[in-house]
Amino acid sequence: MFDPMHGSYIEISKSAYRENLKYLRSRFGGVSISSVIKGNAYGHGVDEIIPIAESCGIKHFSVFSADEALASRKAIRNGSTIMIMGDVDGDALEWAVDNDISFYIFEPQRLERALQAARRTGKKAKIHLELETGMHRTGLAGKELTACLNLIGKHPDLVVLKGLCTHYAGAESVSNYLRVQNQIKSFNQKSVELKRKGLRPEILHTACSAAALSYPETRMDMVRIGIAQYGLWPSRETMMKVFTRDRKNTDPLNRVISWKSRVMSVKKVRTNEFIGYGNAYLTDAPIKVASVPVGYSHGFSRNLSNLGRVLINGKRTSVVGIVNMNMMLIDVTSCRDVKKGDEVVLIGSQGRYSVTISSFSELTNNLNYETLVRLPRNIPRIVVE
Ligand SMILES: Cc1ncc(COP(=O)(O)O)c(C=O)c1O
Repeated sequence: MFDPMHGSYIEISKSAYRENLKYLRSRFGGVSISSVIKGNAYGHGVDEIIPIAESCGIKHFSVFSADEALASRKAIRNGSTIMIMGDVDGDALEWAVDNDISFYIFEPQRLERALQAARRTGKKAKIHLELETGMHRTGLAGKELTACLNLIGKHPDLVVLKGLCTHYAGAESVSNYLRVQNQIKSFNQKSVELKRKGLRPEILHTACSAAALSYPETRMDMVRIGIAQYGLWPSRETMMKVFTRDRKNTDPLNRVISWKSRVMSVKKVRTNEFIGYGNAYLTDAPIKVASVPVGYSHGFSRNLSNLGRVLINGKRTSVVGIVNMNMMLIDVTSCRDVKKGDEVVLIGSQGRYSVTISSFSELTNNLNYETLVRLPRNIPRIVVE
């Protein structure tokens, strides 16, 4: 499996993805799923995830920006729909209209430009109106919302209202419970008001993974699922909520990603020697260390110095000393037969043990999301069954 040109590789498990979708569909009933693939499909790789998702019947993908829409378009094989939830401007907006890519509207200026693009291209702009419901990030309210409604009403020949949407400000944490409840109420009230004014969005969509799992009323016509499709919980709270509600004691989600490297060299070090840069690790007995060609430039955080755990020869062991830009050292004293070329698992399983992304994230205080999206694009991704 090892490409000798690279120090590590990422495995993407098709069957894990399939099982996750099966589970999520069983929870969400007939509601359609938009696969959120921003951040290079949360580090998994857009080129790898899109075909797998399409083979599982996904027909709708959500991205953040025009460049992500472009990359996704290249990977799409089954004519799936793309929706831009964030940044699209200038020529990119016209490109989106011309290529039937839908996008959020959260300010009248963008809608005006979309109408101009529709006139120029002869195609209708496909838009989703994003409502301000309490997150105060992007979203329409007050005069700006009225201005957009007037523009849409005036130009049915130039614009199609694909959706009405919003985003919750932290549905993964119970501490935001009231805020989320208020947002749900606000969205429902506004959508009824808009319908009374004659607005007919094709679909309503508000839920990310946490909202869809914890607040069933947010599922509406479509859910935008990011982290859960990759087999990770948005938070421990969401996991516990689902586990206690379903009386489950096994995790229904399966991690899709594994990250593997190999031993580059092995060295014995005497007692009372510092290992690697500076004085971060002083040996208190003779030890054997292996160098692994993965460092912080590959997304293995420097905060994991003296802390990170990896798997080698069926055992769990520790990173020793400082994580360097391109490599790290691990303690292999208890691995008798360790040698150059042996597999080192950074995320994933080997024998009886696993290194989870959450443990990885907890040690560095990073979110799961952050750990994943920091995995560089140039690490080869290999799809396995
Ligand atoms: C607008 C929007 N919808 C959906 C999602 C997907 O969230 P999650 O990965 O938690 O499912 C995100 C991600 O941040 C988002 O910004």
